[in-house]
This record gives sequence, C-alpha cells and structure tokens, in this order.
Amino acid sequence: MSDAGEFPAVGRPTGELLDELRAERAGDLDWRSGRAFSLVYNVDDPELEALQHEVASMFLHENALNPFRYVTLLRMESELLGMVRSLFGAGAAGLSSGGTESIFLAVQTARDEAAARGVFDPELLCASTAHPAFPKACKYLGVEFRPLPVGGDGRADPNRFAEAISDRTALVVASAPSYPFGVIDPVTDLAAIASSAGTLCHVDACLGGYLLPFWERLGEPVPPWDFRVEGVTSISADVHKYGYCFKGVSTILYRDRDLQQRQLFMYDSWPGGLYASMSAAGTRPGPPIAGAWATMTHLGESGYLRLAERVRTATRGFRSGIDGIDGIRVTSDPDLSVFEFGADPESSTPVDIGAVGDVMDDRGWNLDRQQGGLHVMLSPGHDRVVDAFVSDLGDAVADHGQARGGGLAYGGVVES
Ligand SMILES: Cc1ncc(COP(=O)(O)O)c(C=O)c1O
Repeated sequence: MSDAGEFPAVGRPTGELLDELRAERAGDLDWRSGRAFSLVYNVDDPELEALQHEVASMFLHENALNPFRYVTLLRMESELLGMVRSLFGAGAAGLSSGGTESIFLAVQTARDEAAARGVFDPELLCASTAHPAFPKACKYLGVEFRPLPVGGDGRADPNRFAEAISDRTALVVASAPSYPFGVIDPVTDLAAIASSAGTLCHVDACLGGYLLPFWERLGEPVPPWDFRVEGVTSISADVHKYGYCFKGVSTILYRDRDLQQRQLFMYDSWPGGLYASMSAAGTRPGPPIAGAWATMTHLGESGYLRLAERVRTATRGFRSGIDGIDGIRVTSDPDLSVFEFGADPESSTPVDIGAVGDVMDDRGWNLDRQQGGLHVMLSPGHDRVVDAFVSDLGDAVADHGQARGGGLAYGGVVES
C-alpha cells in the first residue's frame, strides 16, 4: 500500500493493485448479505446486476456534457426522461447526479422564481425531518432555511406552515417519505398552503419516488404525494435508490416546463464556444445514464412491481417481528419500507436501544443509529433475512448490556 498523502513516484502493476483491493474489500461491509440497511439497495437480482456491470463498462469513458457527440447516450437519456415523465405525469424531467443535486436544483429554481417576483431574501419552509440536503442547498444558494417542528405522528404539521409562510417563502417542502421515520408529509395541505401564498411546493421523493407508484399499484394505502396533488410544482426522485440503479443518478421533475428553464445555463462569452447545461454538473459520466436506462427498460412495470412485492414482504416481516418483541416499538407509523425503532416508553421492560444496536453489530447486522433509535431501510433482498433478524433482535433486546456509545454518523468527511 502507498503511504497516505504521497503521490506515487512509480506506478504499480495492475495485478498487484487488483489483488490488494480484492483482499482489502473482502473485509468491507457486504451489502449482498442482507445485513446492511442503507447506502446500497440490494436488489438481489444477479441478472440485473450483470446487465448494469455490462452497460457501465460499455459507456465508462463517455461524457454526456455534449450529448450530441455521444448519440447512444443521447438516445438513452431522452428515452429515460420520457419514461420518467410518463411514470410521474410530469411536464418536464431532467437527470442529476443524486438526490442532493436534484434538491439543489429545486431550491435554485425556487430562489430564482422568487427573485423574478421581487423577493431577494428568500426562505424555505420544511419539516425538521427534511433531509440535510435542504439546509445544505440553502447554505450554498443564499436561502434562509426554516425547519418547523413535526406533529406527534412525525409528519409535517400544516398549522405550523400556515403560521410561518410569508411573502419571502420561495419554497415549501414536503417529504415522501422522510428519511428518519419513513412517513409521508401531508402533501395536499402543504401544497395548498404554498399555492394560496403564490409560491412553489417541492416534494422530496428522493427516497420513495421509484417505490411509491408500485406500492400503490400493489394496493397499499399511499397518501397523495405527486403531481396529482394540486400545487405540487416539483419532485425529486432518485433512480439510485428504489429505482435500483447503481449510484450517480437522480431525477428532478417539474409540473411545468417553464419552471425547469430556470435550471438552464448558457454561456458563450469566452473563446471556447457555446456552453449549455441543465444541471450543476459540467462533465456528465455515461454509466449512470446507461445504467438507469438499462435498469428501467429491463425491469419495466412488472419488474418494479415484483421488487416492490419483495420489499413489502420484508417490511411486513420486520415490522411484525419488532411489534412482537416486548420493550421496543417502531417510531411513528411508517408509510413505506423505511423506519426507526427504539425503546417503547410505555413498556415496563427497560431497553437501552444503543446497547441493542451494539449486540446486533456483534451479530453482523449494521443498523444505523439515529437520535431516537435504530434505522431500517429495506430492499428486496431483505426478504431473505427476516427470521434471522427477528431472532437476533429478540436475543439482543432480552440480553443487552451497556451501550458502547457509537456515533450517530449518517454521512462523513474524508480529511485532507
Ligand atoms: C429523503 C431523502 N432526500 C434526499 C436524499 C439525498 O440523496 P443523495 O444521498 O443521493 O444525495 C436522501 C438520501 O438518503 C433521502 O433519504
């Protein structure tokens, strides 16, 4: 291994590098095992995975910065956007590198819409459960971030929004669902509040966007959250989450094409020719476009339904298993396959949920810690581990010691 921080004086042979990485990676978290709960969505479909590897390597070096140079990428992107528009009934759709970039674009569009009506000190209203991409976008884009407390059910409280909204509100945000508790905010109410104040409403469906349409088609109760709700002006939905593509691709959707035009950047006041782009990225890698196109084309509605059914089986199994263990409970009443569970304050059995997480870690589970408990995000592959999880969790709750006090990290920074 090279010393950290030293630029290699001489290159190393490929075989040696690959051997080193293979050996090191063998100790990394194995997301295919069903014992990891975030960051990677385990589709448990070797054929789809092989297809993704193939198309990613096929387009590994292509750049979609100028889509007219790589016409196969152009065709795939156009078809992909058509599929996405029809799935969500959107007026316009675009790609980005991930949920955070899609959210940045929605906030930038809202900021510029507000400026067009004379608001130069814009603010954004959301529930305190909204993803950190919102305060981050606000920080970068000069928008005041105003998170509001949620109600007892973990959902945004429309009364708080009605009180807080002002002439300066550039964007009202709802989550479908929120990351911490997996609950869908009351989108109809929030969109109506935004619309009667003459402002925009964004639904952050980064997490649920590509699962909710199929969840609904399975007959599950799904509260209104998409463009069928009047007043919803934009939606973010990540293909690299429940869209089941590998990382690097999200979609940003608008009800109206005019709104999307706020993202357009064109520049020719330099000697290098016309530069035009619709998102924050300049160079755009080929693999996410090819991967998203191939994934959606291969799965189709029937494939997404099949996978949604597996997620539902896993969700039912995990939830009923947790419900059956005295001393713990699922927080709120999640609408989807993402949730928190923690100590049940109404139970006479005292449970230190951090210590339960430690025992689960020791047994090879990798549950993320939140302030109020442990976080679960279920993929299709989790339907294989329901019994093992519930059995280990039962043991961990019955027999836990002192919490080791592990961190609450959701994201991290590499020091340089
Ligand atoms: C609800 C929600 N919004 C936004 C994001 C941000 O997505 P990304 O990590 O792809 O930038 C996430 C990520 O988990 C999320 O759960």
